Amino acid sequence: MPVSPSQSALDTAGEGAKQIADLFYVMLSVGVLIWLVVIGLMIYAILYPGQHDAKKTQLLVIGGGVVFPTIVLAALLTYGLSILPELQRPVPAGSQVVEVVGVRWWWRVRYRLPDGGTVETANEIHLPADEAAEFKLTSEDVIHSFWIPSLGGKMDMIPGRENRLKLFPTKVGVYRGVCAEFCGAAHAQMSFDVVVRSRADFDRWLTDQTQDAIDVPHPGKQVFLRRGCSACHAIRGTVADGVVGPDLTHFGSRRSIGAAVLDNTAEHLRRWIRETHEVKPGVEMPEFDSIEGTELEALVEYLESLR
Ligand code: CUA
Repeated sequence: MPVSPSQSALDTAGEGAKQIADLFYVMLSVGVLIWLVVIGLMIYAILYPGQHDAKKTQLLVIGGGVVFPTIVLAALLTYGLSILPELQRPVPAGSQVVEVVGVRWWWRVRYRLPDGGTVETANEIHLPADEAAEFKLTSEDVIHSFWIPSLGGKMDMIPGRENRLKLFPTKVGVYRGVCAEFCGAAHAQMSFDVVVRSRADFDRWLTDQTQDAIDVPHPGKQVFLRRGCSACHAIRGTVADGVVGPDLTHFGSRRSIGAAVLDNTAEHLRRWIRETHEVKPGVEMPEFDSIEGTELEALVEYLESLR
């Protein structure tokens, strides 16, 4: 397993997550307070049994059982609803738009560029800090749910429909995103990393991503083409233009393999290619355990060189 970045809704690094965490703490505090009072009354009733004044008892039941809960619940509901408009406020014009498509069991990620072009990557999302980003979410197959607990709330990804989600990361760092809707065998292995960086850093990253791979005559590229990897995977700048699986143009620069299942190292990549189904049961990618020796080494070296 990769060294896990934060995946806690209470370890907040975004405006939406902060509001949701605050709401949770307010609900929790009020709940604990009321629980203590109820337990106190129960202890009192055990310690002092016997006759109580009928009038006072009735007042306690109506006051504590009807009036008090009505007021408290109404107040909490009002507070809860008050943060909704804030969470649903539209993003300012010019915000970074990121399209994410849920696919069993990985994430297709597309960046819209200011010049109208797009850049595709997978299983890793980079965002500029202290700016709103708008996500356009959909699915290619079943219902998935897009959730970066440290940044904000979750949103369903539904086939044939585009849902929108606004996030506002406030802290530079790496966070983990997950699929939050059971979607089949590898649901629990459908994660991604979110890298929040400064605007300048982000621009540099996005510019890098727009570049095609350098089309060198690497023996690993021959293996990639000969073994049919290009039927599913694209490497922009080469003849590999498959669209079924993740775009691998900048694979070597990514943090993980297999939708945040393994850290991206040469050793893990060897394992991923040969023991795919053992590493991620249910995965759609076929296992290539016939690739070995120098062929495997060349392929791994080539893929890791795509930075
Ligand atoms: Cu996709 Cu759960």
